[in-house]
Amino acid sequence: MTNRTRHFTTSFLLTLFGLLGLPPAAPAAVAPSGYQSASVCVECHPAIHKAWAASEHATAFTSPEFQIPYDRLRRANPARALPCEQCHNPMRFLLEKDDPKTDIFSQEGIGCDFCHSVESVNAKGPWPRYRGKPGIRFGPQGGNPANTAHMTRFSRLHITSEFCAGCHEFRNEYGVPILTTVSEWEQSFYRGEQVHCQFCHLPQLFDARFIDKKKNKGPVDHGMVGGHSSERLARAIPIKGTLVYSGDEARLSVTLKNETVGHKTPSGLPMHKIRLTSTLFDAQGAVIGRNDELFERVIGDGAGKPLDKPEQVFTEGREVLKDNRIAPKESRVLSQRFPLKGAVPVSALLVLVYERPILDGPPGTRTIEMPISRITVPAKADSPLIRYLLVSLVAIALIGLIIALKKRD
Ligand code: HEC
Ligand code: HEC
Ligand code: HEC
Ligand code: HEC
Ligand code: HEC
Repeated sequence: MTNRTRHFTTSFLLTLFGLLGLPPAAPAAVAPSGYQSASVCVECHPAIHKAWAASEHATAFTSPEFQIPYDRLRRANPARALPCEQCHNPMRFLLEKDDPKTDIFSQEGIGCDFCHSVESVNAKGPWPRYRGKPGIRFGPQGGNPANTAHMTRFSRLHITSEFCAGCHEFRNEYGVPILTTVSEWEQSFYRGEQVHCQFCHLPQLFDARFIDKKKNKGPVDHGMVGGHSSERLARAIPIKGTLVYSGDEARLSVTLKNETVGHKTPSGLPMHKIRLTSTLFDAQGAVIGRNDELFERVIGDGAGKPLDKPEQVFTEGREVLKDNRIAPKESRVLSQRFPLKGAVPVSALLVLVYERPILDGPPGTRTIEMPISRITVPAKADSPLIRYLLVSLVAIALIGLIIALKKRD
């Protein structure tokens, strides 16, 4: 059964039950109001549910990556841990204090009904930043309330970046910017073009709406993948390079372009990094030089010490020590020099990887690395003699031309 026929059957049954004055048999899905669990939505929105269930939003509260730092903080100071839940377990603040549903919703992290009950957001305001109207499902289409399995209402908010800003933009109590994805986007050309977060992170619907209205391209992808998708990353930052050597030095020039990322790259949590490793090889394949360059934002404790635990960054961050991330559409040109000490390079291998920490419990922080690009650049001998000869030839030709022109006058 397609969604649409199911929708028709459901509304037909609802009308019938309504006429007979009977409560609808199943599913419990059609309760008129109140927040509902994602296990209710799966019945009629299975594809969306599948993508969401595998997303970081669904595990925002339960994942060990969040729970370990959160637990450390809670043990040390429970009052400071509560604000984390504003974004990682948002239903807690919208439900009554002793509502038993809070437990269910904690298991669902950022659930369907949290996002779809949102009526307004005040991204810079006090907590809770989101206001909801449970029972009405706000979405990009709206529809005839009498005609659906539940009430729906068109919401412009849901198709703009402002919707995401309540969680993806954050300054801590010291005014230090911790999460800046939305303001990075606001300063980019994407804002002028009205290319909102949803365009890239909730795709397909865009196609269905604006490119070919009739062809159903399937429901919106709620996976909301970011730095976790290698496929996405591979297209995000193309690299180019040239390698020349002369005498006892090799010069490597690398250009990185933030081609498809709608904000700085990397973005999000300050622990996210992009690493460029350049390795020079000689004809025997031996390594004759190596260089690592990190693109990142580093938050410090106010005395110049970098903070590397998420809970510290949120609660103790007092300064931005470094930010050399690559802005949307920016081409970053890097010049690296390698002393050769008699060796002759034949190529350089350039490897770009995205890094993020995982499970930073004992025995220490581990990182996952995801490849972005990998290219090999051949080395060219840079002969100063040939260069001088070329320059002189061009100069002589120019002088000759000028003399010839003068003579004609
Ligand atoms: C983090 C917030 C968020 C969560 C969680 C979320 N959604 Fe959405 N959903 C959105 C936004 C934003 C849109 C609008 C996307 C657009 O139009 O660009 C949307 C669109 C939709 C649509 C309309 C699709 C269409 O083709 O018109 C449906 C239906 C929907 N979501 C159902 C669900 C269900 C069911 C779940 C849980 C399994 C869920 N959503 C979880 C934010 C969310
Ligand atoms: C009994 C089936 C059924 C259940 C259960 C159900 N939906 Fe829907 N939903 C539909 C149908 C059918 C539509 C299409 C309505 C339309 O086109 O107006 C829809 C549309 C939507 C939309 C799009 C609204 C818009 O205007 O863009 C959202 C958002 C949505 N549902 C969210 C949810 C959430 C969240 C849940 C769980 C809490 C849920 N739905 C449970 C059948 C269901
Ligand atoms: C033009 C497409 C585009 C737009 C618009 C866009 N993004 Fe992204 N986003 C990407 C790509 C590609 C990645 C993966 C590369 C990366 O992580 O830098 C990404 C990654 C992310 C990440 C993971 C960051 C990291 O480095 O781990 C988050 C969070 C995110 N986006 C949120 C948002 C939000 C919120 C908005 C709206 C303000 C938005 N994005 C707008 C393309 C886009
Ligand atoms: C209620 C708060 C909330 C809202 C609203 C929200 N997000 Fe998120 N989002 C989070 C949290 C928290 C995480 C990280 C979860 C984790 O890793 O534990 C996250 C993760 C993500 C990621 C994955 C980042 C990565 O590293 O791969 C993307 C992409 C993303 N969100 C995009 C969006 C977009 C686009 C919107 C608006 C349509 C949105 N989010 C709305 C809280 C939210
Ligand atoms: C304003 C909303 C907000 C608040 C408050 C917040 N977070 Fe987050 N958190 C996010 C978002 C959004 C992400 C995802 C960023 C990304 O992936 O790029 C995230 C990601 C994380 C991650 C990385 C999870 C992963 O899967 O890699 C950890 C850990 C984390 N937060 C811990 C905390 C702790 C601890 C607190 C409280 C001190 C906290 N957060 C408060 C919004 C918030």
